[in-house]
Amino acid sequence: MDTPVIELRGIDKSFGPVHVLHTVDFSVYPGEVTALVGDNGAGKSTLVKCIGGTHPIDAGEILFEGEPVQIGNPRDAAELGIEIVYQDLALCDNLDIVQNMFLGRERKHGIVLDEYGMEELAGRTLAGLSVRTVKSVRQKVASLSGGQRQTVAIAKAVLWNSKVVILDEPTAALGVAQTQQVLELVRRLADKGLAVVLISHNMNDVFAVSDRIAALYLGRMAAQVRTTDVTHSQVVELITSGRSGSLGVKA
Ligand SMILES: Nc1ncnc2c1ncn2[C@@H]1O[C@H](COP(=O)(O)OP(=O)(O)O)[C@@H](O)[C@H]1O
Ligand SMILES: [Mg+2]
Repeated sequence: MDTPVIELRGIDKSFGPVHVLHTVDFSVYPGEVTALVGDNGAGKSTLVKCIGGTHPIDAGEILFEGEPVQIGNPRDAAELGIEIVYQDLALCDNLDIVQNMFLGRERKHGIVLDEYGMEELAGRTLAGLSVRTVKSVRQKVASLSGGQRQTVAIAKAVLWNSKVVILDEPTAALGVAQTQQVLELVRRLADKGLAVVLISHNMNDVFAVSDRIAALYLGRMAAQVRTTDVTHSQVVELITSGRSGSLGVKA
């Protein structure tokens, strides 16, 4: 079997007296979509923020391509090729698509910005992801639909030779057609060989695109399974009670 790109072992995380993650193991594989599911407050966002270097872990180990690594801040994560698309997207409305995609990592020719190069690469990245709904990369992000914004945020994440892209609830605010487009994009990322983590509440989304499902229950990893090995109702049980048949957290 493949080595996971990322493997978490025994991760613990508290915020002051609030113990959020309890000895969590979590593995993510190249070329696969891993759905990270769990009820509100289960610790999904906290877990990905630990991977992304936003939150230091209290205990446990993070392996990247089999080697132990320290991820002390978001820059460490980015250098490993880990990109996180957060729920709030962090795009700037007043800037255009190119400016957003290169924000803070602008390309320069000497002391001037390499506008042509950035525009070309932004366009090529979107085309490489078969994104055809965006008319011009010089459109302001304010003028984009929710689905298009999500697409730009994802394209921004894959621009940097990333190996792992983590999407925190990318379809939560989208309608049916836009959700479909984003899910197709998620699938294409994995088909290109990236490891994709999809946080989602929506069982239809999860079963439509994921290869594996990891279910968090009250900060504990209840189960990590292949999507083809479980039913919708088993996953719902894991989310709501932490158990389903032989699967789940120890009583
Ligand atoms: N910065 C923080 N400080 C204190 N508590 C936090 C912080 N971030 C998250 N939590 C708590 O951790 C728990 C898990 O939250 P979160 O990871 O956002 O869950 P999820 O993304 O699964 O909904 C919640 O009880 C939340 O209140
Ligand atoms: Mg969350």
